[in-house]
Formats: sequence, structure tokens, C-alpha cells
Amino acid sequence: MKVQRILVLAGWLVNAPSALAARDQVVLADPASNKVTKNVAIIGAGSAGSSTAYFLRKFSQERDISLNITVYERDGHIGGRSTTVGVYDDEQNPVELGASIFVEVNHNLVDAAKEFNLSTSGIREFSTEGPVLGIWNGKNFVYMQYSGGSWWDTAKLFWKYGLAPLKTVRLMKATVGKFLKMYEEPYFPWKSLSQVAYVLGLTAATASTGEQFLDQNGIGKLFAQDIIQASTRVNYAQNLPLIHGLEAMVCMATDGAQAIEGGNWQIFSNMLAASHATVLLNRTVSKVERQEDASYIVSATNSESSVTFDQQPFDEVVLAGPYQYSRIDFDPQPRHLPDPIPYVQLHVTLFTSKHKLSPRAFNLSSDEVVPQVILTTLPTGEHHGSNREGVGSPGFFSISLLRPSMDTREGRDELEYLYKIFSPAPLNETFMANILGLPANRAISKADVSWMYRKVWNSYPYEYPRVTFEELQLDDGLWYTAGIESFISTMETSSLMGKNIARLMVDAWEG
Ligand SMILES: Cc1cc2nc3c(=O)[nH]c(=O)nc-3n(C[C@H](O)[C@H](O)[C@H](O)COP(=O)(O)OP(=O)(O)OC[C@H]3O[C@@H](n4cnc5c(N)ncnc54)[C@H](O)[C@@H]3O)c2cc1C
Ligand SMILES: *[C@@H]1O[C@H](CO)[C@@H](O)[C@H](O)[C@H]1NC(C)=O
Ligand SMILES: *[C@@H]1O[C@H](CO)[C@@H](O)[C@H](O)[C@H]1NC(C)=O
Ligand SMILES: *[C@@H]1O[C@H](CO)[C@@H](O)[C@H](O)[C@H]1NC(C)=O
Ligand SMILES: *[C@@H]1O[C@H](CO)[C@@H](O)[C@H](O)[C@H]1NC(C)=O
Ligand SMILES: *[C@@H]1O[C@H](CO)[C@@H](O)[C@H](O)[C@H]1NC(C)=O
Repeated sequence: MKVQRILVLAGWLVNAPSALAARDQVVLADPASNKVTKNVAIIGAGSAGSSTAYFLRKFSQERDISLNITVYERDGHIGGRSTTVGVYDDEQNPVELGASIFVEVNHNLVDAAKEFNLSTSGIREFSTEGPVLGIWNGKNFVYMQYSGGSWWDTAKLFWKYGLAPLKTVRLMKATVGKFLKMYEEPYFPWKSLSQVAYVLGLTAATASTGEQFLDQNGIGKLFAQDIIQASTRVNYAQNLPLIHGLEAMVCMATDGAQAIEGGNWQIFSNMLAASHATVLLNRTVSKVERQEDASYIVSATNSESSVTFDQQPFDEVVLAGPYQYSRIDFDPQPRHLPDPIPYVQLHVTLFTSKHKLSPRAFNLSSDEVVPQVILTTLPTGEHHGSNREGVGSPGFFSISLLRPSMDTREGRDELEYLYKIFSPAPLNETFMANILGLPANRAISKADVSWMYRKVWNSYPYEYPRVTFEELQLDDGLWYTAGIESFISTMETSSLMGKNIARLMVDAWEG
């Protein structure tokens, strides 16, 4: 087979003098079909890496380019920050541990879900007597919502906040409209994120803090503090005086919120399957070496045996995850090296309990029902959140009662509830006892909390205002997706970056 032979020769050429390599590569082209197989290495099987592979295959098929994709993934699973764990450690009962929601304007994800026939569900609601959502400032609830659906369906919002909700919807829609141009010609594909953001007028939103941006657009302070800040806190664990205006708008674009049943990671595993990539799980890339002929050698270690694998040279390498956590030795150092940026360390705690949340812990009378989802904001006068990571007096970012849960382990048959909490620090027994209404002076038993799973994520960057973003081409043949996370950090934007890089790559091969 033609392809096979080319690869064997290419492998040999790695050690050959570059002049010889250059001459022989011409010979390697198949004169009949005028085809050379392009070898691409993708480091990371999250949204960005999977999307790069999927769109590379798609675009190269359209142009009849022969392509071999290899994906290296450090974890034992596909999806990166989009992953599930089994409730009661039961794989048949998955719950999202990372990215849980996407929305209807997320075209790549919505289209992929359709193409792969994955079932989506809206935000799960089940009947409880009480409010669906409440916003807690550590002292009391500043807002309660009794019916499901989006913010904007609720008359109460307009009653309480006047024109601010309407102005916010308008501003959000205008901002989303600009963002969606990034998918279309003549903007797509973009060679520079800084430039396209500027040309589309999105830099105005990223240059200011959310607080400034909302203020500039005449949105009232009370609405910003109560509703918008509750959204930036649950989505990004950040307050409005820090997070930039574009991300604040993203947090308000909640129409058509949905998730893939059984786990969003299935979008990415289907993308990889459709890309016909060789996917190497449990494989950590440790070194990327540039050869004299501008190809790359990628070395990876297997997490179990620590063996280093030397693969064939790659024409292109895509680093599809944050540079600072990849721990890859690039030799020589690329022209552009991404700056390390601070990421939020988010503690996600999943647990099951037969207890409902205690009204008393949330300053409600004992006959009141605690909201199913508790978002948080800072009380008036507590501008930045005085204590750890801006969390302020609430002490946590969100508590969600996700669904009822039946514990059937070892003959048990108990109706419980599944909860998820986002916080900046590990939750201790005092905290757990308080929210579940248990006595503070005794240890929490299995009868109170029957299952618990904790995970600390480097979840997303602190989205400080900025007007420039990392280069997406670190060097010739070396690409980088994660610069987009300082612009917007979502599954969709990582996917868009993958698509954009795939298009640039294929266009360059043709050119
Ligand atoms: C708790 C939480 C909640 C979130 N909620 C949402 C949400 O509701 N909606 C939403 O859209 N987004 C959400 N996000 C953000 C979203 O998860 C990310 O923006 C997105 O998944 C990033 O995808 P990525 O492919 O760019 O990076 P990642 O998913 O991080 O993928 C990078 C991959 O590269 C691998 N890798 C890194 N270095 C190496 C190496 N040296 N060798 C091999 N492999 C390597 C990593 O193991 C990882 O799998 C959330 C994130 C967290 C943590
Ligand atoms: C594609 O690359 C892999 C290495 O990841 C190699 O083992 C395989 O033989 C290549 N396949 C083709 C068809 O070139
Ligand atoms: C990856 O490693 C984990 C833990 O070492 C192991 O359980 C799993 O089977 C491995 N998966 C693959 C695909 O090699
Ligand atoms: C799509 O999925 C549904 C169930 O989720 C199934 O009934 C249907 O046959 C599937 N269709 C295709 C084309 O795979
Ligand atoms: C409970 O709420 C009341 C009224 O909103 C408030 O005055 C009081 O300080 C709150 N108590 C606590 C412990 O936060
Ligand atoms: C438990 O956590 C709370 C914050 O939620 C903190 O105020 C308290 O000091 C912690 N208690 C102990 C015993 O660590």
C-alpha cells in the first residue's frame, strides 16, 4: 500500500541529512493521484482536540487530501474537562463532573449532537413544591424564581429590576450576533483571535470588566449585582469587578440550555470516531521536537509503564489544551510561547443524601422550601468578596439539587437526592452538617451522606479584561487552541477554535 510505504520511508528520513530529506520527499509524492499523506498529531482529546480532528477530516475529504491523524490523550478517557462520573460509582448512572451545559447558539455542538443522533435534554426539572432557583448572598435570598425556563420569561424580574433585564437581553443578543460572525466568511477562518475580536467590535467587551461594561451600557447596578453576578459566579467562579464584559454576556446567553443524555463527552468521542483518528489514551506527550525539515517528532509516555514511544514525524502538531498544564518540552522553543495565566481552582463536590437542604441554613423559616438551585452573589457593600478567591460571605458559588436518586446498593432501597456544589475550597464537615441541618457536633455518617465524589479542576482562566489573545500558530506547523479560553472558555469556543485551525491548515496545504 502506497500510504504505508511513504510512512516507513518518512520514518527513516528523520535521521537523514535534510538536503536528502527534501529531495526524497518530492519522490514520495504519488504522481498518479498527486497525493501526499499529511500526518497530524493532536495533543488532547477534549473539545478542542476532537473538533480539530473532526473538521480536519471533513475539510480534507472535501478537497481530496489524504490524512492520517493521531490523537494523544493523557487521561484514560475522551472529553477532557467534559467528563462524567458514576453516581454511587455506578457507570450506568453518570453525572457531569465538568462542563455540563451548552446552549442553542453553540452551533458546533448542536450540529454534532444532531449528526451523531445523541439525545439532548433540557435542564432537568422535577416537581418540588418550592422555588426552582434562588440567589443567596450569605444572609438572605435576594431573588427567587418559582417556574422553570429562562430568566426572561419571568414577569417578576421586570417588576423587580425595571428596564435592566430588557437592556441586558438586547446587549447580550448584539454581542452574540457579533460573536457568531466568527463562524462565517469573510471572518472565518481567522489567523489571529486578537484581530478578529477587534474587527468584530468584541474587544470593547473584553477590554472592560463586566461591571464597567454593564455600567457603560446603562444596566442598573442592582440587576448586575443580583442576577448577572450570580451567573458569572456559577459559570466562572468570578465576580463582575474581575471578569470581562464578554464573558459576563456569555453567562446571560442561556436560551436553549441543554446537555447530552449520559454525558456531553459523547459528542467528542463521536467526533473522534468520525475523524478516523488513531486515539492513544493514557498517553502523555512529554516532548515535541522540531526536525530540520520542519516536521515534528512527538514523544509520549504511557502512564502505566512510563515507556517513551517515538512515532513517525508529523507535518503538523496541535496542542489542544492549556500550555501551562501540558508539561511538554518543546525543542527548540517555538517562536511564540503562551504566557502562563492564572486558572480558577474549582472544587466540585458531588454527593447523595436522603436529606433535603435545611431551610435554617439559608435563613428561611422551617416551613419554607429551599430552592432547587442556589446561586450566590455578594451582599451590598462586599464589593470584591473579601475572603478566598472572591467567594465572599456565601462561602460557595452554587449548590444544585440535580435529581432524585435511588440508592439500591447492597439491598438498600432508599430515595435520596443528588447534589453538586461549586466552591473555592474543600467543603468540611461543619459546612455539610449546616446545609443538611445536622447537628454540628457529630461526624457525618454514611446514613447522612451515602456517596461523595470530590474533584479539583483547573477549570477556566480568571477572565481579566484584555485586548490581545495568544497566537494560534506558535510556529510553522505548530498550533495552539487554548488561547481562546481567555476570550470565552466553553466547550463550544474550544470546538470553534479547533474548526478554525483545521480550516487554516487545510487551506495552507492547498495553497
Ligand atoms: C466544573 C466545570 C464546569 C464547566 N461548565 C461548563 C459548561 O457548563 N459549559 C461549557 O461550555 N463549558 C464549561 N466548562 C468549561 C469547559 O469544560 C472547557 O472550556 C472546555 O471543555 C475546554 O476544552 P479543551 O478541549 O479546550 O480543553 P480540555 O477539555 O482541558 O482538553 C485538553 C486535553 O488535553 C489533555 N492533555 C493535556 N496535556 C497533555 C499532554 N502533555 N499529553 C496528552 N494529553 C494532554 C488533557 O488531559 C485534556 O484531556 C466547565 C469547566 C469545568 C471544569
Ligand atoms: C497513521 O499513524 C499511525 C501512528 O499514529 C501509524 O501507526 C499508522 O500506520 C498510520 N496509518 C496510515 C494509514 O498511514
Ligand atoms: C488507562 O489507565 C487506567 C488507569 O491506569 C486504566 O484503568 C485504563 O484501563 C487505561 N485505559 C486505556 C484505554 O488504556
Ligand atoms: C437515533 O436515536 C434514536 C433513539 O435515541 C433511535 O430510536 C433512532 O433509531 C436513531 N436514529 C438513527 C438514524 O440512528
Ligand atoms: C436573616 O434575614 C434577615 C432579614 O433578611 C436579616 O436581617 C438577618 O440578618 C438574616 N440572618 C442571618 C443569620 O443572616
Ligand atoms: C469549614 O469551612 C468554613 C467555610 O465554609 C470555614 O469558615 C470554617 O472555618 C471551616 N471549619 C473548619 C473546622 O475547618
